Amino acid sequence: MKYKAFHKLSYGLYIITTELEGVKAGYIGNTAFQVTSEPPKIAISSNKKNKTTEKILKSKKFALSVLQQEANTSLIGEFGFMSGDDVDKFRDMETITAETGSPIVLDSSVAWFDCKVIDSIDVGSHMLIIGEVVDSDVISQEDALTYAYYREKFKMLAPRNAPTYIEKEKLEEEEGAKEKEAQAAEEPEQETQKNETESDSSSFTCSICGFQYNPEEGDPTAGIPPGTPFEDLPEDYKCPICNAGKDYFNKD
Ligand SMILES: Cc1cc2nc3c(=O)[nH]c(=O)nc-3n(C[C@H](O)[C@H](O)[C@H](O)COP(=O)(O)O)c2cc1C
Repeated sequence: MKYKAFHKLSYGLYIITTELEGVKAGYIGNTAFQVTSEPPKIAISSNKKNKTTEKILKSKKFALSVLQQEANTSLIGEFGFMSGDDVDKFRDMETITAETGSPIVLDSSVAWFDCKVIDSIDVGSHMLIIGEVVDSDVISQEDALTYAYYREKFKMLAPRNAPTYIEKEKLEEEEGAKEKEAQAAEEPEQETQKNETESDSSSFTCSICGFQYNPEEGDPTAGIPPGTPFEDLPEDYKCPICNAGKDYFNKD
């Protein structure tokens, strides 16, 4: 099996939301697709570990906002990598309440759908949840974000809870990246020394979400001034997008 083949499947990116007993919940999903036209129905594949999944199954409703191409990456970071138990994802969001009562996120969105759940199928790690569309609207004429654009232009990854998650190592193995690493290790000592002296200005990338720490820029969101090498970041430094610790960063 070639894992790269799965990257040839096309998807969009959506904020999937619901509301249960006055509490809003939501996550980023790439698996949402129209399954019938009359009446229009949309299916989502929702991980059982997502806090939102249980709430959708209980509330029997969900809404989805279609993200715009140049979506806010912090919004994707919070909705796509953090649990609703740890952060109020809706605190700075512009939302409206749909007919079913689900919150609709207007930020970074081009359209939305409001759905009532009519069926669900247990497919193992995920629940395939089918909703009948009760309302929908277009917010802007901008292009919608695709999963391919997200991967290629934003250089961001998907966490394990996404149905389309593929271990980075498996993809690298296919690309022969491991072989390249071995070759680099055999390169003359001089070259290694050069790299070591350059390391202070090296950028580091979070292996969970793809966020790149650039020492020239620092991390203003965490009060890290420009010119701070990765090595000098505090040990409890966390990725501003997905909250992963320093250990998850690899040198570029
Ligand atoms: C690009 C991307 C695509 C994702 N696609 C899905 C998906 O289709 N289904 C899913 O269950 N989770 C998906 N996730 C993972 C959830 O968004 C993530 O687990 C989220 O933190 C769950 O939040 P919650 O626990 O507050 O519900 C995706 C995440 C990203 C970043």
